Amino acid sequence: MGSSSTVQASLSGVTRVYPAGGAGKPVHALGPIDLELRAGEFFSVVGPSGCGKSTLLDVMAGLAPPSSGTIAFEGKPVRGQVPDGIGVVFQEDASFPWLTAYDNAAFAARQAGLPENEVRARVEHTLSFMGLMPFAGAYPAQLSGGMRQRVCIARTLVTRPRLLLLDEPFGALDQQTRLLMGDELLALWRETGATVLLITHSLDEAALLSDRIGVMSARPGTFIDLVETGWPRERDSRIVSRPEFGELTGRIWAGLRDQSMRALAAAR
Ligand SMILES: Nc1ncnc2c1ncn2[C@@H]1O[C@H](COP(=O)(O)OP(=O)(O)OP(=O)(O)O)[C@@H](O)[C@H]1O
Ligand SMILES: [Mg+2]
Repeated sequence: MGSSSTVQASLSGVTRVYPAGGAGKPVHALGPIDLELRAGEFFSVVGPSGCGKSTLLDVMAGLAPPSSGTIAFEGKPVRGQVPDGIGVVFQEDASFPWLTAYDNAAFAARQAGLPENEVRARVEHTLSFMGLMPFAGAYPAQLSGGMRQRVCIARTLVTRPRLLLLDEPFGALDQQTRLLMGDELLALWRETGATVLLITHSLDEAALLSDRIGVMSARPGTFIDLVETGWPRERDSRIVSRPEFGELTGRIWAGLRDQSMRALAAAR
């Protein structure tokens, strides 16, 4: 990966505090976070529930302002809106039930004002790449959960993001489907050359897919470990049978166990 040392996105001293609402006190959800994402890398974020992962994604995408610190994407400050070149797939299934898979996939590209022939070319390419072409005319309710999630990913991919932010995209799927979707995500990452930031609660998924894994503390989430996996770019889910895979998940869990217990205790 020749360009892997180029910094594509950077966060410096980023925090996010949600203001007090109703009866509550302000919630310090995140940070301070310092992170440099390398162009083209596959970076996963794991951390206890509620530690601020989705908040991190929101501030990186410009969807929520940081309370302090700065975020830059390709050298320009991120604020107020999603920068051109960043694509987001949210934690919940955000497919539009009233649109077919095709029209869902075309949505963001049409919003961006691309001419219809360009939209069609991109949608057809993306849907066939994701194995959705036979279902182009189906509505989300007629698709499985995994297919709906693929529709959401396709919708984002059609805009050709250089940085793809994914928040638990396979959260609702069974283990086998997750592994296969992971393989698809790897293929897509190789094909597009995009940088991927994947939030996941699955340690296996993080260890399997990533070049680097950021392990977060309990809320307010900060990075307590950055793990380099050393996997080759050509890889797939068969990596789970390698001894290094077990060592990796062991190291990630060693950092997380304590944090997850803290998060549980704080919630009691
Ligand atoms: N809009 C909001 N207003 C107030 N507090 C919020 C808001 N969104 C999130 N929080 C709080 O910020 C903290 C971090 O939430 P966030 O959704 O970022 O966690 P997470 O790591 O993504 O959790 P999960 O793994 O369960 O998805 C939580 O304590 C949550 O209650
Ligand atoms: Mg979340």
